[in-house]
Amino acid sequence: MSIEYISDKELFHIKTKNSSYIFRLRKGYELEHLYYGERINDTRGIEFLSDDNFLGATLHAIDSEFTEEKLSTDRMLREYPFYGSVDLRCPAFHAEYRDGSRVTKMKYLGHKIFSGKPELDGLPSVYAKSDEAQTLEITMADSFTGLNLIYRYSAFEELDVITRSVTAVNTGNSEITLDKIMSCSVDFDNSDFDFVHLHGEAWRECEIERKPLVNGEVRISSARGASSHLHSPFFALANKNTTEFEGEVFAFSLVYSGNFELGAEVDSLKNTRAYMGINSFDFKWLLESGQSFTTPEAVMVHSSNGFGEMSRTFHNLYRNNLARGKYQNAVRPILINNWEATYFDFNEEKILNLASKAKELGIELLVLDDGWFGKRNDDTLSLGDWYTNTDKLPEGIASLAKKVTEIGIKFGLWFEPEMVSPNSELYRKHPDWCIHIEVREKSLGRNQLVLDLSRKEVCDYIVSSVSDILSCGNISYIKWDMNRNFTEIGSSALPPKRQSEVAHRYILGLYNVLERIKTAFPDVLMEGCASGGGRFDAGMMYYFNQFWTSDNTDAIDRLKIQYGTSMVMPSMFMGAHVSAVPNHQTGRTIPLETRGLCAMCGQFGYELDITQISDDEADEIKNQIELYKNIREVIQFGDLYRLKSPFDGEKTFFEFVSKDKARVCLFYFTHSCAVQCNTEKIKLKGLKPDSAYKCNKQIYSAEFLERFGFDTENLQDNSGKVYLFEIQ
Ligand code: DGJ
Repeated sequence: MSIEYISDKELFHIKTKNSSYIFRLRKGYELEHLYYGERINDTRGIEFLSDDNFLGATLHAIDSEFTEEKLSTDRMLREYPFYGSVDLRCPAFHAEYRDGSRVTKMKYLGHKIFSGKPELDGLPSVYAKSDEAQTLEITMADSFTGLNLIYRYSAFEELDVITRSVTAVNTGNSEITLDKIMSCSVDFDNSDFDFVHLHGEAWRECEIERKPLVNGEVRISSARGASSHLHSPFFALANKNTTEFEGEVFAFSLVYSGNFELGAEVDSLKNTRAYMGINSFDFKWLLESGQSFTTPEAVMVHSSNGFGEMSRTFHNLYRNNLARGKYQNAVRPILINNWEATYFDFNEEKILNLASKAKELGIELLVLDDGWFGKRNDDTLSLGDWYTNTDKLPEGIASLAKKVTEIGIKFGLWFEPEMVSPNSELYRKHPDWCIHIEVREKSLGRNQLVLDLSRKEVCDYIVSSVSDILSCGNISYIKWDMNRNFTEIGSSALPPKRQSEVAHRYILGLYNVLERIKTAFPDVLMEGCASGGGRFDAGMMYYFNQFWTSDNTDAIDRLKIQYGTSMVMPSMFMGAHVSAVPNHQTGRTIPLETRGLCAMCGQFGYELDITQISDDEADEIKNQIELYKNIREVIQFGDLYRLKSPFDGEKTFFEFVSKDKARVCLFYFTHSCAVQCNTEKIKLKGLKPDSAYKCNKQIYSAEFLERFGFDTENLQDNSGKVYLFEIQ
């Protein structure tokens, strides 16, 4: 049993392989949080963790329900803090009621524990296969307002993960306006943590920031309509001494692709309250009588062995229990994308030449990027008009797809279906189909507007126009792009009192569209993109089996981008392409070998004009492809050990170990300012105990490689090398 209710103490114990999460009911009213951390096998006495240190004190009022005990929830560790009474710290829940009051007082009504895990209506979520999970649902009720809250916890014992979500149900007769409803909140009885999160920009995705918590609040959010390049919906609280390999980490990842908030508040008693959910800024949700609202899912991971173990837990969970479909466990094809090879300037002959050359080199899929539709020859027009640009492709997309397939490689196609260009037939026909406010000027981003996916007819249009193209056959891959943030947020289809629902309704509409397309075309592999990694989040992983990690293809910059992204995302989802030099983004010239090896640490591909390369380059590319085909299972399905960070010095080491530990790929890179004559012994991780490995004809014991390390050679700046180890 991974979830236990100890009735005499009214105690809930949620267990995974290595962690415990414990809380209890106080006086049939308040859920008091007791513990989250390493697994506890015997909980006798655990209630004494609460020393009732939270007696009311000057300025901290005593809850009316706890008058006798003189307890103040303002000083208590609370399970899910709702606003409106004594606890004046950052609430997880805030709502407004008919009488204008904002006081919520939830009382325990009951709970149930059951096997499995329910799906979340209209939202992506981690799923449980057969007996993988148990779920606890606690129902809380506010008799005065008729609001019920269901707190949902699922424990994945083996995968070592707890997921959470909350459903609000209006069982009363009057409207309730939800202002804030977090997916999870966790109170800790100390504040000795570093706050770790991922921030960035287009071309600089997922930089890792680690800062001590401050007294007061750290809050990270997106109000851009997408999870965004700027911040990822992930954070961790780590002990001060936590490293990649050692120390405690509490990590949180949100299965959501829209506006989010996350943060941590340290109170005057040095307790920390961590939370995560839909961004409450510019959010309101009107709940009419009988209606319910479910939050996105938060995934909680506890690691006692540093950030590396935290990441491997996320990778296993997201590969096995979030990703879906035919490609979930299939090796990803090596692709060539024509974007950096041609940009908008191509015709059928050029694409067929690329396809023929790709076939010759061993590439398995050609993706035709932006510019194949409407009248699109630059980014000023035609988004929304999803029919072939016959000036470039006179015989149409179906014919091109067929010809590429006949060459012997698969064909993929780019779309940006959530957008509309003001200069398009779609916009001329439906000017009100975009997100906008009637009386205001519309701000353009990349010359385009965002379609209003909170409207069913808009979603239907997207499904039918994308489906029409896919139905032509021979399209086995789509790249789904999204290239601007929301502005002037409003929908002409919603009444004034529901305008603050637009951003979340948009995401629900998008999930609905993606689900319909994925169901109708189960054999199509879908790639997500938002100017690179602008929406590379766990919500999207439910639909897309791979992502374009960044528009920055400079191999040395990519080491950091891929390192940061791998904090949560598995390598098999991280599109990584070899591009031309000088690099189009940075102007830097990095050797082809380094570019190839860096891209091999993700989902490997090319993005350059291979019809213009020299014979030597062609030979080198053939060798790269052969090598990747030989090792891609280890990279895509194995365990990642980040042995040395590009953020910390001149060298980067990534180690991939196959699940059976029989094969190991050690990638080694030197970047700026590599110090000559400075060979490095790098200690491997995750090897099979008591075994030996062969590398370059030498035999090493696993113990030797882990204890003393493998001797790497001197490399010049911006170089790369891979060492392959086979178990003996
Ligand atoms: C942005 C993407 O990130 C690029 O890879 C490319 O697809 C362009 N859009 C096309 O407009």
